[in-house]
Amino acid sequence: MKNTSQPLLEEYQLGDLNLKNRVIMASLTRGRATNPGLIPTPIMAEYYAQRASAGLIISEGTWVNTQSIGFINVPGIYTQEQVEGWKSVTKAVHDNGGLIFSQLGHIGAGAHPDLQNGRLPVGPSAVNIQSQSFTPEGFKDTVTPHEMTVAEIQDTIQDYRQAAQNAKDAGFDGVEVHAIVGMLIPQFLSTATNKRNDRYGGSIENRARIIFEILDAIFEVWESNRVSVKFSPVMLSNVGIVKPDEETIDLFKYILNTLNSYNLAFIHIVGPAEDLSGTPVEDLQDNYFAHFRNNYTGRIVANLGFTKESGNAIIQEGIADLVSFGEPFIANPDLVERFRDNLPLAESDRNTYYSGEENGYTTYPKAVIAGA
Ligand SMILES: Cc1cc2nc3c(=O)[nH]c(=O)nc-3n(C[C@H](O)[C@H](O)[C@H](O)COP(=O)(O)O)c2cc1C
Repeated sequence: MKNTSQPLLEEYQLGDLNLKNRVIMASLTRGRATNPGLIPTPIMAEYYAQRASAGLIISEGTWVNTQSIGFINVPGIYTQEQVEGWKSVTKAVHDNGGLIFSQLGHIGAGAHPDLQNGRLPVGPSAVNIQSQSFTPEGFKDTVTPHEMTVAEIQDTIQDYRQAAQNAKDAGFDGVEVHAIVGMLIPQFLSTATNKRNDRYGGSIENRARIIFEILDAIFEVWESNRVSVKFSPVMLSNVGIVKPDEETIDLFKYILNTLNSYNLAFIHIVGPAEDLSGTPVEDLQDNYFAHFRNNYTGRIVANLGFTKESGNAIIQEGIADLVSFGEPFIANPDLVERFRDNLPLAESDRNTYYSGEENGYTTYPKAVIAGA
């Protein structure tokens, strides 16, 4: 039986963009840019077009410059060839009635010399994040990065601006700044990896400065209501030493309070994957998203582990405006229709998450409706 009274399926006005529904497809790195230029491939256009019934798609994380590369076969958005490749993707999504933001990322110290022509990766300080990097020879331990000079930080901010311009030229509807743990921005936020004593280190204000400078640079290209930021304040596992600490709650209060005047499209918040009891952020354990709602006056996209039921509930309760789904979109290109028609969800095959070309990428069928 069809269920048309779901908040997730309501139309939504996102600034000047009209979303068909409140279901956001979260970024999913899928490793299908299998060419030396890291140019989006035709199957990527097909894959995103298959998922165009989402209210808004956020592209997989894409690199803003060569230094930001930290994972094999992930596309960039810093060359003209890449922009041309992305044009096919955005056209395919638009032709199918969808909207798509480009997610702009830099992996910082999570890169590896094998991905950087032998050069050291860059980070806020010369501190090994003690994580792993996905190189052509498989996962390798991260190394101690080169500490970015102020000039290099400024150049990187300009690379975000240029990538934002490239995203506009490629036909995207907006951009999302990729600031979840694993990336360069959280390495600046963290006291474990940021040991600087200049204007980018030390106090909360200084550690967070790079976010606002990146956003200000992007606003030279995009209206702020076409720009979002994705944060994961409480990620605990597989993240090396960039973990929540005693300052995390105050840090995010400061970031959100500052972003209140930015008129962003939304902030995208990843929820807790584990029990936070006994961690420095255990106060966020209960009513997690409400903590962000109480500190942020703009739109919130809630993410992590949502189902049709919990997604509808969090919108109904007024705690989030939109809900994003990551893994469910892998095997369910028609996730929105499955929610609408109360159909079961297909399971995705983890072996093809980051490789396999078409297999496990464009091969998942739409649900077959009995009697249709
Ligand atoms: C295969 C895979 C790739 C991902 N790649 C990205 C990425 O490029 N950028 C990003 O912000 N998050 C990425 N994520 C995280 C998802 O966007 C999302 O935050 C996470 O899967 C939790 O949402 P879910 O429970 O609905 O899957 C990835 C997740 C998976 C499973």
